[in-house]
Amino acid sequence: MNNLLLKSFIKDKHVGAIFPSSKLIVKKIIDKIDFQKAKIIVEYGPGKGVITKKLLDNMHDDASLFVFETNEQFINDLLQIKDRRLIIINTSAENARLVLKNRYETERVDYIVSTIPFTFLDRRMRRRIIYRTFTLLNEKGRFITYQYSWLIFHLINRKFKKANWKFVLLNIPPAIIFEGIK
Ligand SMILES: C[S@@+](CC[C@H](N)C(=O)[O-])C[C@H]1O[C@@H](n2cnc3c(N)ncnc32)[C@H](O)[C@@H]1O
Repeated sequence: MNNLLLKSFIKDKHVGAIFPSSKLIVKKIIDKIDFQKAKIIVEYGPGKGVITKKLLDNMHDDASLFVFETNEQFINDLLQIKDRRLIIINTSAENARLVLKNRYETERVDYIVSTIPFTFLDRRMRRRIIYRTFTLLNEKGRFITYQYSWLIFHLINRKFKKANWKFVLLNIPPAIIFEGIK
């Protein structure tokens, strides 16, 4: 068992999981990204950085990865990743659009990958994050997330031009990958 995740899970319900994402789910998410075209990627809820590291492994030298994490213990873990393309931001995903615009003069991004546990957020917050995510993406931008329930699918479906889903039955527990395409 992952001790840091377990302790964080007990202290902070927004951590949402005791285990980091499985290798299988990380691969399925990474496979959805066209790294030839991706110049700016955003990640919500990087945790200890399992997906973050894979994103960096695949990204172009001149691409950037902005990660938004609320849990300060995880921020310390993320700070161990030494990569000039990685920008770590200790605030909630709901502020991503504002922070990127005001602090980094960045109005649009190519991909947003999220593992935040939407189930633990209230209805309004879920909607706010997904709608702001839509606005932050450039035309043809993609939002990729995985969840254990259908709770947010209708929001992705309502907002994005195309909403795809795929079961990952071999994951424990089985998960659903959602993808919103602008
Ligand atoms: C289920 S963990 C996923 C961790 C890691 N990305 C992985 O795949 O194993 C969810 C992460 O989202 C973070 N989180 C929860 N709500 C958030 C929010 N509103 N904004 C940014 N991060 C958030 C938690 O602190 C935690 O690190």
